[in-house]
Amino acid sequence: MTGERGFAFPPGDLDALRAALVRLGEGFAKLPPVGAGEELDDAARAALFEAAGRMTDNYPYFHPLYAGQMLKPPHPIARLAYTLALWINPNNHALDGGRASSAMEKEAVASLARLFGWDAHLGHLCGGGTMANLEALWVAGQLTPGKTVVASSQAHYTHRRISAVLGLAFEEIACDRHGRLDPGALSRRLERGGVGAVVATLGTTATGSVDPLPEILELRGRYGFRLHADAAYGGYFGLAGNLDADARRAFDRLGEADSIVIDPHKHGLQPYGCGCVLFRDPSVGGLYKHDSPYTYFTSTELHLGEISLECSRPGASAAALWATMRVFPLERGGAFARRLEAGREAALELYRRLASDPRFLPAFRPELDIGVWMVRARTAEESSARARRVFEEAARRGLHLAVAELPAGFFDLAGAGIAKDRDTVTCLRSVLMKPEHREWIGRIWEILDASADA
Ligand SMILES: Cc1ncc(COP(=O)(O)O)c(C=O)c1O
Repeated sequence: MTGERGFAFPPGDLDALRAALVRLGEGFAKLPPVGAGEELDDAARAALFEAAGRMTDNYPYFHPLYAGQMLKPPHPIARLAYTLALWINPNNHALDGGRASSAMEKEAVASLARLFGWDAHLGHLCGGGTMANLEALWVAGQLTPGKTVVASSQAHYTHRRISAVLGLAFEEIACDRHGRLDPGALSRRLERGGVGAVVATLGTTATGSVDPLPEILELRGRYGFRLHADAAYGGYFGLAGNLDADARRAFDRLGEADSIVIDPHKHGLQPYGCGCVLFRDPSVGGLYKHDSPYTYFTSTELHLGEISLECSRPGASAAALWATMRVFPLERGGAFARRLEAGREAALELYRRLASDPRFLPAFRPELDIGVWMVRARTAEESSARARRVFEEAARRGLHLAVAELPAGFFDLAGAGIAKDRDTVTCLRSVLMKPEHREWIGRIWEILDASADA
């Protein structure tokens, strides 16, 4: 049901939550009764209502006309399983704090590892892509002491920052005109020596570009380095049946990386914060070794805190991810894969329309579900100003896009007769990560069309 007040609110969901809570309560029925529990009094109700009012000061992330940043609403099963778990509020740091949810986390993480063909693995959930990448680079730094970490100029800024936090040297490698790490530039850097780890991004933040993993793997064979794949955004796309050949080839070899980051809170239908780091060689767990006499006392079984840098972590995240994967197993051709394919189809349709419209200049065909385009003008400077105006006009008309500052080299300025009076251009960007975007692309286009002429 679409609520009169703006978003879908199926009343049956709360009935399902109530039934699940009764089931959960039954599991603790042998305890001496403690009464009905603390109820909301008038002040608490008023505070809740006030919080709802405050939360209206947000862009409508749940709506298909929001296409600006990487924001995807959690699936109802994730939302409800997370909420259900809050009645226990488990802490997955140790089995003592979250026995059931730690088991659920291990199962969910094993399913993610199998997505990359890994039966044996080491991994866990964490706060998000930043924490997950931090752990991967922390391990890489310990295994290649004194060496440099490299990542493409379009890799997420977190890699440079994390390297600084870890005291590791960091260098940027140039990209090709599709926003992918340039293997020629990487090869030249490797030739000079001293590189310990290479970060390959499968799904860059700005353009969803996929680094050429087969070529990077070939270089690993020649030079030897640790290969970390930041697939925080794109990790699930290996399931999609509608990738172009280059991206397909990269995803097919993802399991050959030494470590992988994938964020269930981006494309995995989860609420924030749910990231995941995976290592191909479980023996790196030895690097995390530490003693904690006050927390690890209930069993000799693995406590997740023994293999993660964070201490307290929400068991609710594990419960939500586990329940979601019961409904949406990670299968090619399955319902989850079709949702990813729908977003990509939306991005391709938008690209087709942009490419055949004389007012716009798209950068390149999207590799995933993110598209970027310029507004045509005489100069890059003028185009940048126009992009900002279109962005604002579209927002006024209810369509929320993003603006991005990208290298001018991503666009065929000469072919379009646009003078290159600056090195970067401000362009428009859309992230079409909701499956509904496919059905809404006509409406999205109507608003963009009208905004460009306004
Ligand atoms: C490729 C990539 N890596 C890492 C991150 C950081 O993830 P998080 O925001 O979950 O910390 C992002 C965020 O957009 C990303 O796109």
